Amino acid sequence: MKHLMRSRANPHIRELLAQDGLTISKLIQPLFVVEGLTGEEEIPALLDNFRMGIDAALRQIENDLNNNVRNFMLFNIPANKGISADFGAKTIKAIKDRFRADIHLWVDTCLCSSSVDGHCCIFHKDQSTKIDLDASLKAIAYYALCYADAGADGIAPSDMMDGRVGDIRKTLDESGHANIAIMSYSTKFASEFYGPFRGAADSVPAFGDRRQYQIDVRNRDDAINSSLRCSKEGADMLMLKPGMTSIDLVAPIHEKSGLPVGVYQVSGEYASIALLAREGLIDFDKALLETWQIFWRSGAQFIITYGARKAHKLGVTKT
Ligand code: PBG
Repeated sequence: MKHLMRSRANPHIRELLAQDGLTISKLIQPLFVVEGLTGEEEIPALLDNFRMGIDAALRQIENDLNNNVRNFMLFNIPANKGISADFGAKTIKAIKDRFRADIHLWVDTCLCSSSVDGHCCIFHKDQSTKIDLDASLKAIAYYALCYADAGADGIAPSDMMDGRVGDIRKTLDESGHANIAIMSYSTKFASEFYGPFRGAADSVPAFGDRRQYQIDVRNRDDAINSSLRCSKEGADMLMLKPGMTSIDLVAPIHEKSGLPVGVYQVSGEYASIALLAREGLIDFDKALLETWQIFWRSGAQFIITYGARKAHKLGVTKT
């Protein structure tokens, strides 16, 4: 049975998925929390986004709440690399203990920030570039379970491994987390535009690239099929990224899946607006708003953007 109630579970997800206008409740703010960091470090390319220690993150969320942001996408960056969800679970617990039902905490679920080689998967030990799918799926489902146990409101798998949505759904359902939604990074293209993120999240691949598992921008059928597959495996929401390379796919994927489809305005897209503005070539606020309006026009139901915390300044209303 398909659980539709997950998408109605609390006011934040209801506002996120309400099919009305572009409001702050449709925006999701990423957060980078770094183990062992005191205070915060600026991420040069991502205007007003920081790598934060947990205390700084709690202060930042407080500010964001005051500016009407309710949905967050958490990226956990552990100090010691290896398969462990301990730091992520600790971070989630600290955030949810403090803010409880005031926020909706999505957690990016992937291996790249904690793997030694910066990849989103585990490779066979003897053949360093052959993906060990079973081991990868097991690790990803384990992370999802730990995050759910720690209090995450939603799981957002970004690894692109075949079958992970089904495995995560099964794991969550079997452990009393049937109420936790899955927002799948369902069409994720291999892209240059993730550059600023990878520096911030310690996820630069130590060798090779991600073309074995992320989609080639030239391939429309693969892009659509990949999202539809996540839908069949039980995703509650689909997400396409980068936003700008996906706007032609939002409507067809929505029509075929019947699910809410959102976009991720990725680090390189946001940074390019900031860099142009820094050079005095465009107005940052106006350009950012323009991009959101275009995503909305394409049919995107929600937008993950590094500028969510600025939306109130751009005149975007709360609801
Ligand atoms: C991790 C992940 C990435 C992004 C979100 N989750 C990086 C990648 O796949 O290389 C990119 C986000 C951004 O660029 O803003 N798998």
